[in-house]
Amino acid sequence: MDKIIIVGGEKLRGDVHISGAKNASLPIMVSALLAPGWSTFLNVPNLVDIKTIKKLLRNLGAKIEGEGTVRINTENISNCEAPYDLVKTMRASVLVLGPLVARIGVARVSLPGGCAIGARPVNLHIKALQDLGAEVELKDGYVQAKARRLKGATIYFDIPTVTGTENIMMAACLADGTTLLKNAAREPEVVNLADVLNGMGAKITGAGTDIIRIDGVEQMHPVEAAIIPDRIEAGTFMIAVGMTGGDVRIMGCEPIHVEALTRKLRDAGMEITPFDGGIRATAKKKVKSVDIKTLPYPGFPTDLQAQMMALMSVSNGLSVITETVFENRFMHVSELMRMGADILIHGNSAMVKGVPKLKGAPVMATDLRASASLILAGLAAEGKTELSRVYHIDRGYQEIEKKFSAIGANIKRVSG
Ligand code: EPZ
Repeated sequence: MDKIIIVGGEKLRGDVHISGAKNASLPIMVSALLAPGWSTFLNVPNLVDIKTIKKLLRNLGAKIEGEGTVRINTENISNCEAPYDLVKTMRASVLVLGPLVARIGVARVSLPGGCAIGARPVNLHIKALQDLGAEVELKDGYVQAKARRLKGATIYFDIPTVTGTENIMMAACLADGTTLLKNAAREPEVVNLADVLNGMGAKITGAGTDIIRIDGVEQMHPVEAAIIPDRIEAGTFMIAVGMTGGDVRIMGCEPIHVEALTRKLRDAGMEITPFDGGIRATAKKKVKSVDIKTLPYPGFPTDLQAQMMALMSVSNGLSVITETVFENRFMHVSELMRMGADILIHGNSAMVKGVPKLKGAPVMATDLRASASLILAGLAAEGKTELSRVYHIDRGYQEIEKKFSAIGANIKRVSG
């Protein structure tokens, strides 16, 4: 298996180009199920998770061409099943549930099972689909759902679930009547999906707020649409500059999508300057400690919590980081401590005391964003860091070592 080797201490300087958002690409590629014919999606990142969703859609009968610019034809959906061996590798596969029931009246989707960061249930997806009139049965580890035609309803999410909002918003597009999603997720990826669905002929208003209205239509048509930039990749690079010092322009990022992070990095003493086409991050001195609490958008994103913990590990004081979204998202802590970080976990909070320097060490990735935090730690650490199980990072970052190397980092991938 590949490893990533980093020798820390280099300041980051130059321009880095942000790829399309993984968490927008996945639901948008699935949305093609609603619109028979050839749809074209631009700025799709080349990631392992994108390969997985292509495999899943082909398994359902879709024809798919291209990378970067991806064309999908769902004229002939010949299968309604998302099998366990695919779903277990990527829980976002559950996104096919709503569109399949809406398009062909039936779906058999494996329950995703948990992952490193939590149990990741899909009970809210299922409940909402039942609210739309689907008959749903849990059998042999699968969700089996059917409906002659879904019926618009008012749905209240106990938690503003991102893929839950996306799954049901897609299902409601072809329902009979109006659907209201209350306590809906407000993430930019939800808005990108809603814009694409409207381009296919759906009637959606309110995306980006906590109440989304969908007026069902009889049919939808293919579309050409672009994926928004990946705000989590952009945030990862902004934090990296705080780790090493330096001056980097993050090209193609939407500054408004990283506002919560921007405020925190400014409080930590960095200069963050939006410009037309991206955002510039500059760090001239050791960062100050700040407290973080993860929340649904527009709060501080849980997907940047691990990266921020790496930064606070080399800050000048004590930081309290509280994770409110997932129940087990501190898998990176023990690995950071092997590099000399001073962290104490108490419930869903971590007390992080900044140390003068981290020390390079062999470390192991456990999940996608934990891997990113270990790379950031390696960039700032004295000596060599060897990151194993890099398949985790390849799920959500396109050629991350090449992008860091191009702005001055001493980092390379070696085949294991
Ligand atoms: C999406 O996951 C993202 N994935 C995650 O990114 C991200 O961390 C998460 O939203 C939160 O922002 C994609 O968009 C593909 P949730 P999702 O449903 O939709 C609980 C990454 O690193 N919940 O908003 O699965 C759940 O357990 C990934 O790119 C239920 O209890 O997250 C969690 O505690 C990691 N029942 C909370 O809600 C449900 O039916 C938020 O989960 C659904 C969710």
